[in-house]
Amino acid sequence: MKTRRDFLKILMAGGAVAALPVASREGRAAPDPDLILRLIAAPDRVPIWRGAQTRVLRFQAQVIQGRSDAVREMSSYLGPVLEFRRGERVRVHFENGLGEPSIVHWHGMLVPDTADGHPRFAVDGGESYTYDFTVRNPAGTYLYHPHPHGSTGKQVYFGLAGLVIVREPSERAVGLPDGENELHLVIQDRRLGDDNQFRFRRMMMDDMSGVLGEHVLVNGKPDPAFRVAPRPYRLRLANVSNARIYKLAWSDKNPMHVIAGDNGLLSRADGVQVRPYVVLAPFERVELYEDFGRRRSRREFALMSQEFSGGDMMGGMMGEGMMDEDMMGGGGMMGGMMGRGMMGGGMGDMMQGMMSGGQGKELLVARFTVSGGGRARADTLRLPGPAPAVGESKHELYTRLAFRHMRGSLNGRTFNMHSVADDEHLPLNEGTVWTFSNDASGMMSMSHPMHIHGVRFRVLERTRGKAPEDLRDGLIDVGFKDTFLIFPGEQVRVLVAPTEPGLFMYHCHNLEHEDGGMMRNCRFG
Ligand code: C2O
Ligand code: CU
Ligand code: CU
Repeated sequence: MKTRRDFLKILMAGGAVAALPVASREGRAAPDPDLILRLIAAPDRVPIWRGAQTRVLRFQAQVIQGRSDAVREMSSYLGPVLEFRRGERVRVHFENGLGEPSIVHWHGMLVPDTADGHPRFAVDGGESYTYDFTVRNPAGTYLYHPHPHGSTGKQVYFGLAGLVIVREPSERAVGLPDGENELHLVIQDRRLGDDNQFRFRRMMMDDMSGVLGEHVLVNGKPDPAFRVAPRPYRLRLANVSNARIYKLAWSDKNPMHVIAGDNGLLSRADGVQVRPYVVLAPFERVELYEDFGRRRSRREFALMSQEFSGGDMMGGMMGEGMMDEDMMGGGGMMGGMMGRGMMGGGMGDMMQGMMSGGQGKELLVARFTVSGGGRARADTLRLPGPAPAVGESKHELYTRLAFRHMRGSLNGRTFNMHSVADDEHLPLNEGTVWTFSNDASGMMSMSHPMHIHGVRFRVLERTRGKAPEDLRDGLIDVGFKDTFLIFPGEQVRVLVAPTEPGLFMYHCHNLEHEDGGMMRNCRFG
């Protein structure tokens, strides 16, 4: 339990937030918001499968002031889609109706640090937190989800997550389909236990690989099927799974046309990315331009996640054998693990987990049928011009990723809620070249989706030849990113130029790795 004194200590250590009135627990107040929302997180029950309802945690939202179309219900356990306009001043009153601490993070959004949902701001059940920010991101697909340290994975798994769609008038000039010809697919995997209940962690493997399920849900629904018109669509794909990486492809072998990455549309300079498949790691997003008019009517096809072998721990495990020092090493950890799972009959479970719903397994994501009727000709796409380049960067940062003794670490340590002494520092409005290096020694080599709060950045390069051959062609490293996948043995260099001052964080977005402490603070400015 966190005491109030601890909370104060954290606030004080936070420097930039120390000036805030502690009692209010609020972000910087902006005068006169254009939009005021109320956002509640609370337990609920929803019908997902035939039979018993599923117990979930659920966001619900209401417009208190401003555009009524800012909140779009999802008719599932997922939070409503929040539609913001660039430049809009938004205030969100978050109410924690869970029986435990929580806080909301705006994933991919450039918000003040007090509105970022860092776990130091977590509020107890029954308490609230007010966010004030101006929407600075360009048109694109973003996310919101809880971020209390140690239980983000659980809260997201039971349903707390939603999409943020940012729109801006200049999008019209791009020639993108909208209205009915715009769809979003929030992709999640779940493990189904007795009586239609979601089944979270059940064995030690879950801490390592992250929680993987064999049931794919799209927008909170199983066995999703979309009926589409024979015309171009804008498809927003978001991976909101705790740990699963998808290798998305059309079953009829049509290529994918990627027009946006995590953080806004690709520029003309980047160009539309035509790929045989797209790799989407946890909390990455892409937008596709898909002309369904190029398929025969009444044709049924599917969005699949293709099988892949590369990059995960399972591969390493099979290859190098179970008897690695990491697992057998004399630490007290192993004793606990054995008690909990592996030896206590867990081995069978583990093998079953690996075989049935393991990382890289082929999965059906959604079925599509093209309806009959008139075809519409596709507009020519005019992607926006490139963003102004960030000047020469004199600053360098280095982060080493490792996975040992069942835990991920960054620069040799796990996250400490009570210390901000291990900050990384980045100057404001100047480029820093940040090198991430994924230590591949030992059997615990795995890939990690790394995420940095409060910035949008570019991937400059990744070590050639290290990304698994069966995933390489689907990595979207162009455009602005906020999350990127790094494979074992790889180095990825990104160019970051923060614009919001204060204390933010970066972490692995495999939610079990994150909760295990594969996370560090970083200070901008
Ligand atoms: Cu999407 Cu720190 O999170
Ligand atoms: Cu984030
Ligand atoms: Cu990780």
